[in-house]
Amino acid sequence: MADVTRIAVIGGDGIGPEVIAQAVKVLKATVAENAIETTSYDLGSQRYLRTGEILPDSVLAELAGHDAILLGAVGDPAVPSGILERGLVLRLRFEFDQYVNLRPIRLFPGVESPLAGLRTSALDMMVVREGTEGSYIEAGGTLRRGTPHEITMQENINTAFGVGRVTKYAFDRAASRPRKKLTLVHKTNVLSHAGDLWRRTLEATASGYPDVTAEYCHVDAALMYLVTQPQQFDVIVTDNLFGDVLTALGAVIAGGIGLAASASINPERSGPSTFEPVHGSAPDIAGMQEADPTAAILSAAMLCEHLGLTSEAARIEQAVADDLLERQGEWAARSTAEVGDDISERVVG
Ligand code: IPM
Ligand code: MN
Repeated sequence: MADVTRIAVIGGDGIGPEVIAQAVKVLKATVAENAIETTSYDLGSQRYLRTGEILPDSVLAELAGHDAILLGAVGDPAVPSGILERGLVLRLRFEFDQYVNLRPIRLFPGVESPLAGLRTSALDMMVVREGTEGSYIEAGGTLRRGTPHEITMQENINTAFGVGRVTKYAFDRAASRPRKKLTLVHKTNVLSHAGDLWRRTLEATASGYPDVTAEYCHVDAALMYLVTQPQQFDVIVTDNLFGDVLTALGAVIAGGIGLAASASINPERSGPSTFEPVHGSAPDIAGMQEADPTAAILSAAMLCEHLGLTSEAARIEQAVADDLLERQGEWAARSTAEVGDDISERVVG
């Protein structure tokens, strides 16, 4: 890593810029002065409506020169749904080969889950969602054509490349955690082509990790267990679309999307990784300082961890945990910027 960490900041639409401003504030309070350099990029609905541009190649090339990207959210009622999601969010994942989409699902002490009586210790998992393949490939621009058989074959190819890599990554993650347990979530009995590939890959990779317990769970059952017995999950590895659905439910049971962090990672660092809250642009409360910046701040902690700033990541997480513990009464009435200020102060100590 270069001496100065270069971070590209894309606030985006709606509440995106507000929450990302707090993430940047906390990063700057945590990381040694002059150690990071941020560059803001004007991308999202406003630029699209003004110029028709979503992610010009020249900007993509500039982004490639950064160590990481902090992304708020995109989406605006004036832009047809899907255009910015495909052209910006997914394009970044595809172009920078961010084949691991990492999403912790953890209940912090003091946070209330909608699951009655859920204890903090019962919800602590890491979802390793494949980030660049599966059903999302079509969204990247390759329209599938042909007979059902040909399309099925094409789908098989679509899930051929990332599976091995993301499975290996998930085993490494599981091996580094106390419980050392990995669950493959899929629908192998029905989606036989892609499903077989995932299952065979799990079995083949497992032999290299004798300490990790590897299991398989159907996706529909996994959603039920997530609500009825979430303690059985440690690390989950899953397909792109299943992971999208699973982590949305996970975010809610862990206290809401205001707290859910996410990272789209290129593990080899052949391109920058993107750190973004799971939530969307929430245009209804944009500009009102009502959004919770915690998910964006926790995503910044994941950024630090990815870049090897391990103690900085831990300090941000601890500051957030302390803040969450005290969120009662008037604490809930803070503005977006006040939450960012308070967490920054805690990081400084
Ligand atoms: C997410 C989002 C994206 C996805 C959209 C914006 C393309 O829902 O990051 O979870 O489907 O992955
Ligand atoms: Mn989603």
